[in-house]
Amino acid sequence: MENQEATTRGIWGSKVAFIFAATGSAIGLGNIWRFPTVVSQNGGAVFVLVYILAVAFIGFTVMLAELTLGRHSQRNPVGAIDHIKPGSPWKFIGYLGILTGVFILSFYAVVAGWAAGYVFKAVSGAFQGELTAEMSNQIFTDFSSDPLQVFIFFALMMGLTIFIISKGVKKGIEKWTKILMPALFLLIVLLAVRALTLPGAGQGLSFYLNPDFSKLNGTVILFAVGQAFFSLSLGMGTMITYGSYISKSDNLVSSAGWVSFADTFVALLAGLIIFPTLVSFGQPVDVGGEGLAFQIFPLILSKLPGGYIFGILFFTLLTVAALTSTISLLEVPVSYLVDEKNWSRKKAVWVIGIFTFILGIPSALSTGAVEFFTKIKFLGFIAFAFGNISLAVGALFICVFVGYIWGWKKAIKEIASGNPRFRLRFIWVFSLMFLTPIAILFILYFIKTLRG
Ligand code: TRP
Repeated sequence: MENQEATTRGIWGSKVAFIFAATGSAIGLGNIWRFPTVVSQNGGAVFVLVYILAVAFIGFTVMLAELTLGRHSQRNPVGAIDHIKPGSPWKFIGYLGILTGVFILSFYAVVAGWAAGYVFKAVSGAFQGELTAEMSNQIFTDFSSDPLQVFIFFALMMGLTIFIISKGVKKGIEKWTKILMPALFLLIVLLAVRALTLPGAGQGLSFYLNPDFSKLNGTVILFAVGQAFFSLSLGMGTMITYGSYISKSDNLVSSAGWVSFADTFVALLAGLIIFPTLVSFGQPVDVGGEGLAFQIFPLILSKLPGGYIFGILFFTLLTVAALTSTISLLEVPVSYLVDEKNWSRKKAVWVIGIFTFILGIPSALSTGAVEFFTKIKFLGFIAFAFGNISLAVGALFICVFVGYIWGWKKAIKEIASGNPRFRLRFIWVFSLMFLTPIAILFILYFIKTLRG
């Protein structure tokens, strides 16, 4: 088994190994940092509702399309498309994905660095004692506006990502996720239970779970669908690449279902922690900024017996969850250069890694360190442009490609390997060919409703 990796591109050890790796890619800062922020800024419960619908009908569709395309062609996104339509311009979907992934990684690794930095803060006892919201906000401001600290941890996260990816798929990725993801999950459940028993929890819950439909508008839908793609790692080829390592006997439908479910569950739990805690500490629920999660988790940890240890554990696990996502982001351009351009893995990893680091510098400086980047909200802008719009465009083209160009019949045939019955096929094909593309065109139209 071991030398399989040296000779071929490698394959997941088992279906479970794939699910852990794909779940590891999906679950990350998107769930714990980004989700609560976008919920807070986009009307609360009504956003949550649209989000769940977006995952179920759009996200799942795209996830299955990507996995199918990947497994069929056993290639990276560019190679996958070229394999099916040799020499056609459709390859640009793959290039767009690679570009998008590099930009996402550039800011994602910065935020992952915040998580790593917070491990050290937790160790130093910064979240001990009677922590107030003002104190916690100050800790975040001091940290995120200090270029030295931000850079050290940004570089650390990029370095770790480079290190893991350069070691190859199987050894690199599988090892991390199996124990640490379940641990993170348990800890989040514990924090949610504590948050729900805080005074004022009910009011926070009401913002989070009781929809106010007057707040529903195009922006809410645009952000909800974009967040679904971002959180599920869709629209740029991650799941094409991960799918390319799945064995022909595995069931793609249940894999896609499980990954979507687990990812959504964790995001929803993160909200159950953030909103009750906000209210309980006298903070407004609807003005979350990029620092929201980093300001709020220390507060709930300070309310937990053994909060010192749990705090260290939480930020460590969050860092690991972020790492399993950063490696999935870097794996896409790397597998492209290795498969298509015959680069050595090592060279590809270092070239892309260093390029991404440079690209991330303005994001790293945009939370207070440099006024210009802070003012234009550089990190938030890149997160929106690439982590939302660009993914939606990518997902649109993936659906069109799988549904119309490759052809849904061939896709179904691929899915049938490992799932001969595929009961959801009518719904899936309908969503792939009509519902999802139309929904994406619809949300892209709403870009014009955004202010400035
Ligand atoms: N889904 C991850 C998260 O929520 C981030 C991520 C990893 C991602 N790979 C991706 C997002 C590919 C979009 C595309 O943290």
